[in-house]
Amino acid sequence: AAIEKGNHAHFMLKEIYEQPVVVAQTLRSYLRAVEQRVAMPQMDFDLGAIERVVIIACGTASYVGMIGKYWIERFARLPVEVDVASEYRYRDPVLPLNTLGVVVSQSGETADTLAALRHMKANGVTTAGIINVPTSSMAREVDLLLSTHAGPEIGVASTKAFTCQLAVMAALSVNLARAKGKLTPEEEADIVTQLTESPAAINAALAHDDEIKAMAGTIAGARDVLYLGRGPDYPLALEGALKLKEISYIHAEGYASGEMKHGPIALIDDSVPLIVLAPSGPLFDKTVSNMQEAQARGAQVVLISDAAGIAQAGENTIATIEMPQVHPLIAPIVYAVPVQLLAYHVAVAKGTDVDQPRNLAKSVTVE
Ligand code: G6P
Repeated sequence: AAIEKGNHAHFMLKEIYEQPVVVAQTLRSYLRAVEQRVAMPQMDFDLGAIERVVIIACGTASYVGMIGKYWIERFARLPVEVDVASEYRYRDPVLPLNTLGVVVSQSGETADTLAALRHMKANGVTTAGIINVPTSSMAREVDLLLSTHAGPEIGVASTKAFTCQLAVMAALSVNLARAKGKLTPEEEADIVTQLTESPAAINAALAHDDEIKAMAGTIAGARDVLYLGRGPDYPLALEGALKLKEISYIHAEGYASGEMKHGPIALIDDSVPLIVLAPSGPLFDKTVSNMQEAQARGAQVVLISDAAGIAQAGENTIATIEMPQVHPLIAPIVYAVPVQLLAYHVAVAKGTDVDQPRNLAKSVTVE
């Protein structure tokens, strides 16, 4: 049956709103709620023998890989390398034994990612794939298929596939950590609780839709927009900038907050909106101090944080968007929502073709 937009103006908006349901649906396959444990599908290799992880993807999926690096290094204490598939496949990468190669792809058909997967397999690497289309080439070829259950994604700019990929990546990180003996049952139970609560937190984030819509007009007039984040919110800043570029055609860049003074600060004046992704936590003060350096130069800041963060640093901003209080671990899963909604409403304000942006394809099956 044809997939309908229902009462949403665009597929992208419909898919943004599906996230509480599809993330919960995805997590259900990877969490054992009663035992408070993460569970993976049957695998015919020993996860405990893995000594190194390589994550390869394109576009939005590559940011899932970057966030996964923070999680796997932190929980499993394994070194992680992340690259975009188009670079990886041609740079003669070093592939030691006991590497787990992970590809992330909504379609499972992106030509460069598929070629990278085949390259890893040809070199004897055990592979896993976080993939949304279970009948795709990648899904058939990986040693371990880790399905996302986002359902068909029609909007060219990825939204619900991204948050579902993050949910699976989090589960994989915890599973690796347990296999490596780096996680106590209590720590695992705590992470499982955080993940279980993420769909409700996504729902709470969606409640800010109208506020985000109201500020979209201001952003729509900008020529350049900067996104800042630290830790796992740095790749989310990259995703925010990508999303805005893709559908509104406004030039945007994501930056690690601490890198701002090494370049982009030169761009800042009162015509450049700065979107700051800063959940409370160990990195909050650092990000805020970077934000204040920009404010001192006239930057128009939109601060996305929780109540505590906004109380501490919400002054002199053009807007604040209050996210629920969440563990820094799941923050990227929740903070993805305002980032997506902002891009969406800015694109609508500019009158672009949100679901079919110019020059872009949903699935890039040629090089
Ligand atoms: C295209 C889409 C993006 C997507 C990327 C990777 O560029 O427009 O939304 O992130 O391909 O696609 P994949 O299917 O491999 O996740």
